[in-house]
Amino acid sequence: MTSVFDAWREQIEAHERDAAAFGGGHGHGHGHGHGQGHGRRAFTNANRALDPFRTDDPVLNGLYSVLGNDADVLDVGGGAGRYALPLATRARHVTVVEPSEDSVEMLNDRAAEAGLTNVTAINEPWEDAETPAANVVLCSMVLHHVADAAPFVAKMQEHAKDRVVLVEMMETPGSLETPFFDRVYGSAPTPLPGLRNVLDLLWAMNIFPDVTMLSAEPAVLDADRDVALEHLRGRLSVREGTEMDGRLRAAADELLLETPAGFVVRGVAPQRHAMVTWRPM
Ligand SMILES: C[S@@+](CC[C@H](N)C(=O)[O-])C[C@H]1O[C@@H](n2cnc3c(N)ncnc32)[C@H](O)[C@@H]1O
Repeated sequence: MTSVFDAWREQIEAHERDAAAFGGGHGHGHGHGHGQGHGRRAFTNANRALDPFRTDDPVLNGLYSVLGNDADVLDVGGGAGRYALPLATRARHVTVVEPSEDSVEMLNDRAAEAGLTNVTAINEPWEDAETPAANVVLCSMVLHHVADAAPFVAKMQEHAKDRVVLVEMMETPGSLETPFFDRVYGSAPTPLPGLRNVLDLLWAMNIFPDVTMLSAEPAVLDADRDVALEHLRGRLSVREGTEMDGRLRAAADELLLETPAGFVVRGVAPQRHAMVTWRPM
């Protein structure tokens, strides 16, 4: 019988194979800073999500609720600081472990802009990083990219004095593009692991976490239809003016729904973020 760990790895490997077969998917499956660097100017939501002093982010407010006073935080795969920077406004110190050089550069720039002097970055993958333990070890939207997930989680647990906090979604953000892949290519990449897979993985490691659901927000592509279409072209590796682009445009006519929050995709479930936390054993 396939173990939970093997099934997890196979799902990620299948996703990566599929994404490569669909023309590389522009970073599909690698997660190096997606949703931060690339979409920084284009994506209304991401712009809002980059303000370190925002108060309307349900995930961030959930994180504040578990952050003790004067905590040291280790943010594994912290990207350009979507959570690390706001957390630094309340924590004693935040260390970000992040393999993408671009993201680290952006993180450092933005920390300086915000006048935050208690953030340091280690530009390495978590597997290789040497760092002292922290009160809270956070890992948001990273684990579903990590094929060898059990040692990755075990290392987080070893470095957490008080709490490990994972942020994951019911379905990974790529689910937004699935109906477009179906229309353009006739099938879509295997999805990356979502919350139910994360829980299976943790239970198989004898970790029994608390799960707090934090948001059920419409999955918005963009407020601007052209930007949404351009994003889809990038994700599906479709060049403008080609036959595939014709199929993509037809799919967009059928699937994009204008809402006050921006363009959403017909039939795609709301984005549900969860905070998965436990005290290290
Ligand atoms: C989707 S982004 C999430 C960024 C941030 N945590 C957030 O929630 O906005 C995934 C991040 O994981 C990082 N990452 C990928 N593999 C990693 C690894 N082995 N160790 C640490 N970080 C990794 C990527 O570089 C990227 O910044």
